[in-house]
Amino acid sequence: MDSIIVRGNGPLNGQIPIAGAKNTSLKLIAASILTEEPVTLTNVPKLADIRTISDVMTSLGVEIANLQDGRVMAISAANLTSHKAEYDLVRKLRASFQVLGPLLARNGEAIVSLPGGCAIGARPVDLHLDALTALGAKVDLKDGYVHASAPQGLKGCEIDFRFASVGATENAMAAATLAKGTTVIKNAAREPDTVALADCLNAMGAQIEGAGTSTIVITGVDRLHGVTQEVLTDRIEMGTFMVAPMIAGGSVELLGGSLDLIPCFAEKMTQAGAIIEETKLGLKVTKGDGPIKAVDAVTEPFPGFPTDLQAQFMAMMCLCDGTAVLEETIFENRFMHAPELLRMGANVEVQGGTAKVTGVKRMKGAPVMATDLRASVSLILAGLAADGETQVNRVYHLDRGYERVEEKLRAVGADIERVPGR
Ligand code: UD1
Repeated sequence: MDSIIVRGNGPLNGQIPIAGAKNTSLKLIAASILTEEPVTLTNVPKLADIRTISDVMTSLGVEIANLQDGRVMAISAANLTSHKAEYDLVRKLRASFQVLGPLLARNGEAIVSLPGGCAIGARPVDLHLDALTALGAKVDLKDGYVHASAPQGLKGCEIDFRFASVGATENAMAAATLAKGTTVIKNAAREPDTVALADCLNAMGAQIEGAGTSTIVITGVDRLHGVTQEVLTDRIEMGTFMVAPMIAGGSVELLGGSLDLIPCFAEKMTQAGAIIEETKLGLKVTKGDGPIKAVDAVTEPFPGFPTDLQAQFMAMMCLCDGTAVLEETIFENRFMHAPELLRMGANVEVQGGTAKVTGVKRMKGAPVMATDLRASVSLILAGLAADGETQVNRVYHLDRGYERVEEKLRAVGADIERVPGR
């Protein structure tokens, strides 16, 4: 497996293009099952996760053509040949579970493997299943698979989530587009990805109101039609690269970025000492004078501090002046970067869902390994200002969610390279 070697070498300067959003793309690809007509997505990032969901789709009989060097995906679910998403594919990518709602709504039947746990926690799917049951589906669990059926179609209903789950909101919303009658989702997720999915479904002829608020109302329609939809900027990639100049020094312009995608994170970055300016092309982030200030953060559903940026923020707080307390409330096991950061000389104490990060003057390069996507990139970020060489192993996780991270950072002056695995 490849590894990434980064050597701390001073300030970064220049521009970094931000790709289309991975998580949005995955949901839009899954939603294309809802229509027999062609769905064309533009600004799709070139990532391992996109290839995995494409494999899931292909296994269902969906035809996918990658155009313009993979940036454009032409999808046709005209002829579904299977309604079963196999364990071997779903276990590789939890977001594959998002085919459940669309498949059930289009087909009246769906069999989708339970995704199982993953490195960052148990990640149950009870809210997804409760929502589909409320929509009138018969849902059974057998041999590790969810068997959902609604031969007479789904029926509008009221769903009140006990937690604003992104995946469950999106599965329910997608399924409800073809249900008879009106569905009201209360305590719905408000994530930009969820809004983007609603926008795409509406462009396909769905009638969804309230996306981006806690109450989403979906009036079922008989059928959805094709669409050409652009994927919005990846807010997590943008947030990740906002951290880079704070750690390494300097100033980078993030092309395609906008502040409204990560309001809370941008505010915390400003408190930590980042100077953030909106430019014609995106966002410019400059490290202000003086040390990074200690800033506490609690991960929360949107518009709160994103769990997907907690590891990167921790890497930055490792160099702060004082002590920052980071609390993870979304996933129970999402501090696996902490022991690796300790190997680089950081001072982090983890207790349950809380990490106390006391800043050190300098970090030291070390061989490190990451077991999830955002943890991997946090170690690269930490390496940007560490003395000596940091070797991040098992970059398989990194490639799931970041496009050419080493090229993007090298272009703004980082000393970073990919070493092919044997
Ligand atoms: C989560 C993030 C999302 C991010 C995505 C990819 C949140 C709220 N969600 O979405 O922003 O883009 O990971 O990294 O930050 N849960 C249940 N039952 C369910 C579903 C979820 O109890 O049926 C609980 C989980 O145990 C966990 C939380 O809800 O505590 C996860 O939130 P959810 O939004 O469902 O996760 P993802 O859709 O994976």
